[in-house]
Amino acid sequence: MANATADTTGDSHAQLDADPRLEGRRLKRVAFDAAAIAARVRELGEEVTRAYPDGELLALGLLKGSFMFLSDLVRHIHRPLGVDFIVASSYGSGTKSSGIVRLLYDPETQLQGKDILLVEDIVDSGRTLNCLMDLLSARRPKSLEVCALLNKNVATELRKPPRFVGFDAPHEFLVGYGLDHAESFRHLPYIASLQ
Ligand code: IMP
Ligand code: MG
Repeated sequence: MANATADTTGDSHAQLDADPRLEGRRLKRVAFDAAAIAARVRELGEEVTRAYPDGELLALGLLKGSFMFLSDLVRHIHRPLGVDFIVASSYGSGTKSSGIVRLLYDPETQLQGKDILLVEDIVDSGRTLNCLMDLLSARRPKSLEVCALLNKNVATELRKPPRFVGFDAPHEFLVGYGLDHAESFRHLPYIASLQ
């Protein structure tokens, strides 16, 4: 399942041509459809539940990209937990990581002594994660792990790989299910690659 790949059938093209959410812009293909995402997110929730039998768990969503993933994921985590968000900006409107991570919103919740699960949409170069892990470790959580919906597996500089991963992602620029290009396409219920 983690390697479930892309649907390149004619159906996917028909879906993209007909989708009124795209403002006439063309996407290349659907990489993960809504059903595949839902099934995998449910499994991830079960994995997370098993991994934290006790302790104070805080799901920390990295906005904006993780908003849809986080909201679906926590519904499948069957144990007490807190939810908070962190806002960092690394890309601007381009499609390449700048390597500069700016923190625009800091979680209000105390992190010290808690099991922190940083929920991220996609790991690309890993620069965002490296930077955030340093920043969050300094707050002395009991543990700090990452749950990423997608991993491009190109992050050679990543110091600590994500503990939970939804899918291995194709090496294309992906949009939908929270992921954007210049703030468009976040609301798509599926993940597609950009032309
Ligand atoms: P990294 O620092 O290169 O790992 O980039 C991570 C961040 O860049 C993610 O949290 C996303 O917001 C964004 N990003 C990376 N790859 C993609 C993509 O294919 N589509 C949309 N956003 C992406
Ligand atoms: Mg982004």
